[in-house]
Amino acid sequence: MNVPDIIIAVDGFSSTGKSTFAKMVAREFSFLYLDSGAMYRGVTLAAMEQGLIAPDGAIDEPSLREIIGTLDLHFRRDSGKTQLFLGERCIEDRIRTLEMSSHVSPVSAIPFVRNFVDDKLHAFSAGGRVIMDGRDIGTTVFPQAELKIFMTADENVRAQRRYDEMLSKGETPVFEDVLANLKERDYIDSHRETSPLSQAADAYVMDNTHMTLHEELVWILGLIQGKFGILEAPALSC
Ligand code: DC
Repeated sequence: MNVPDIIIAVDGFSSTGKSTFAKMVAREFSFLYLDSGAMYRGVTLAAMEQGLIAPDGAIDEPSLREIIGTLDLHFRRDSGKTQLFLGERCIEDRIRTLEMSSHVSPVSAIPFVRNFVDDKLHAFSAGGRVIMDGRDIGTTVFPQAELKIFMTADENVRAQRRYDEMLSKGETPVFEDVLANLKERDYIDSHRETSPLSQAADAYVMDNTHMTLHEELVWILGLIQGKFGILEAPALSC
């Protein structure tokens, strides 16, 4: 298993801004950012494209188990951006739709899917500094992480953020659908048998319901400097 020199694990509920926060920390402190949820979304997209998820959401698990080892899902880094590829195809946009969000939680609850993704995440986390966001990074994927953050926020505020993000991408979401999807994902993620979403005992909790990105950065700045000392103060660009 590859073990990074420093790993920061960022876990929490859906749409708490984990990836925005983790990307900002990666940029300010020169960490490699890895989005574990993207991997689960990638498996879900591949399963849908191969007809293994029925319109009613039923998953053909035996067939998915057969093909999962053949899926060439990998991150590529280009101009400071890390994007998910399936073979030669960049699938970043395809995996972020509401349709994908509504199927991903049941797929991510399947134990062999979790093993597949965990192996990929370890393989991509070579030495150096890595910040990874997800649901079980500090509890299962990297329980030895040097710093663990658990993010939470009011669910209406989270749904509004997600709704605004979809609008800005030219989608036409219905707020009630976005809120319902978020609640459903939180429930499935927290209640599945294999590595459910839970707060690690040694995690620092951030409730960002009323926080700006700048306040989040100031919050983590103290933690990172206190823990690692070696990191310089960033210019606080946001
Ligand atoms: O962070 P996200 O919304 O892109 O994650 C998509 C789904 O993947 C989410 O519903 C739960 C699952 N997931 C998980 O089970 N474990 C992780 N480490 C990351 C995501």
